[in-house]
Amino acid sequence: MADVNYRQLVLDIGKHDNYAVVFRSTLEDMAAKVDFSHVKSCVAFGTGGGEREIEFARRLLPNLRSFTAVEPDPESVRALRANFQDGKLPGVETSVVETTLESWSGVQKHVDAVLLFDMLLHIHITDRKALFQKLITQYLSYGGVVAIISSTSSFTRVILERLGMSQVVYDNLEGDMVDAGFHVVLKQDYEVVETYLTL
Ligand SMILES: C[S@@+](CC[C@H](N)C(=O)[O-])C[C@H]1O[C@@H](n2cnc3c(N)ncnc32)[C@H](O)[C@@H]1O
Repeated sequence: MADVNYRQLVLDIGKHDNYAVVFRSTLEDMAAKVDFSHVKSCVAFGTGGGEREIEFARRLLPNLRSFTAVEPDPESVRALRANFQDGKLPGVETSVVETTLESWSGVQKHVDAVLLFDMLLHIHITDRKALFQKLITQYLSYGGVVAIISSTSSFTRVILERLGMSQVVYDNLEGDMVDAGFHVVLKQDYEVVETYLTL
């Protein structure tokens, strides 16, 4: 990963949009459409401080008992550990692995869900396809689900520019997932408004 203060970058950009509000109302929409009550365990990659993943789990995964987060950025890992200790996921055993998705040693026991929130842009296309195969063959239990968020806001554009990476096209991700053997349960578009004020 390029040498940037990733956590600070994410926090700075987040001040200029209504992502948090839109995210929350999207969860409400999803709660009415999908049933994740079978999900007892999950792995989340590239969680940053984990705020979104924790909110997702609180709202949509009522029976979650085990949550593993894989995140390489040390500042984000510090925030993540603090967020996990905040009592927001009562009854859930949490663990943090400070590493990249590519270097992670993998699951010891199949999980019911994998969360990939705005992080696939960091994964090379070849590794991405390999990951989707692994999700099905090694990580997920039968009937397991993958939740993907792929933003195209200036939030991700700024990050991509700083890191010298290119935008991920959601439809390509979906195509690669289908090629790996998944089917789409729900696809939900949402619009984030960005406000940049200058003096
Ligand atoms: C745009 S942030 C998304 C954070 C969080 N998931 C969210 O939606 O708010 C992308 C995260 O992916 C992490 N990341 C970057 N490269 C990674 C890799 N190879 N494996 C796992 N995570 C990675 C970054 O450190 C960062 O925390």
